[in-house]
Amino acid sequence: MAPTAIKPSDAGDFWSPKAYSTSAPFVATSSPTLVKLLQAHKSDKILDVGCGDGEFTSNFIDSAGFVLGVDASPQMISAAQDRFGSKKAEFSVVDCRYLDKESSIVNGSWDKVITNSALHWIMRDEDTRESTFPAIHSALKPHGRFYFEFGGHGHVSEAFTALMYMLVQHGYSMEEARKINRWFFPSKEWTQKALERAGFEVELIEVEYRPTKLTAAEDGGLAGWIKLLGAPMINAVPAEKRENAVKQVCEVLEPVVTKGEDGSQWLGYVRLRGIAKKI
Ligand SMILES: C[S@@+](CC[C@H](N)C(=O)[O-])C[C@H]1O[C@@H](n2cnc3c(N)ncnc32)[C@H](O)[C@@H]1O
Repeated sequence: MAPTAIKPSDAGDFWSPKAYSTSAPFVATSSPTLVKLLQAHKSDKILDVGCGDGEFTSNFIDSAGFVLGVDASPQMISAAQDRFGSKKAEFSVVDCRYLDKESSIVNGSWDKVITNSALHWIMRDEDTRESTFPAIHSALKPHGRFYFEFGGHGHVSEAFTALMYMLVQHGYSMEEARKINRWFFPSKEWTQKALERAGFEVELIEVEYRPTKLTAAEDGGLAGWIKLLGAPMINAVPAEKRENAVKQVCEVLEPVVTKGEDGSQWLGYVRLRGIAKKI
């Protein structure tokens, strides 16, 4: 019998800044190309969508005029505000699935909008797939630019598959397991068309296969990554079974992600990156 299916919103704020820095510190630091593309200037007013704990945002606060980071996680925003909040950088809790409703942000005043590793969460639901790019378009000044990087088609497919398997093992049907999943990893073609539908001219769009080495930290590594990034799926099983669920996923993944030579563990990150100009 499947456990009572949880709604995605029941997953709560699982984004612990401590767990993020232990299990996925490479997310904020492995996008130098995106930061380079941004070319922040003193005159730029920049919106960072899904800014997390501010570590990624901190790459361009000094070079920009003003930065607003928005994220749905109160814990991440509190960490960002504590670490990087200033006259030049503010951080605010916003569920960007409903960015189109945020009239104080979506107001045609931003020179640049940037997002790193957050859109595949934000655009999970069909309706936010349709509303997110138009909202970002409306947030920008005429000819403003949108710089994005997020999980593209095939991103962490080994972890995704193992998490689906774990849910089925815990009594969910495959259809229910798919509903519990909180990720959307679109293709380059889908993304280009969706940006164009929203009124953007796509200036650059590229896919990078970037195998990513997991941390060796005690609470990090593969188990830490699964616990944090796979939380909506892990938390769909009863609390007393979660530790075993993480173990089960790690056991399935072990031979796939581990390099024989040195025992290091790697996940198959696929990044979809680009620049779109408001026309
Ligand atoms: C992998 S982290 C990336 C954080 C940051 N951009 C970085 O590069 O380190 C993904 C972030 O997306 C945020 N996120 C997920 N769903 C969101 C939503 N609906 N609205 C806003 N932020 C969301 C999470 O809270 C988390 O901070």
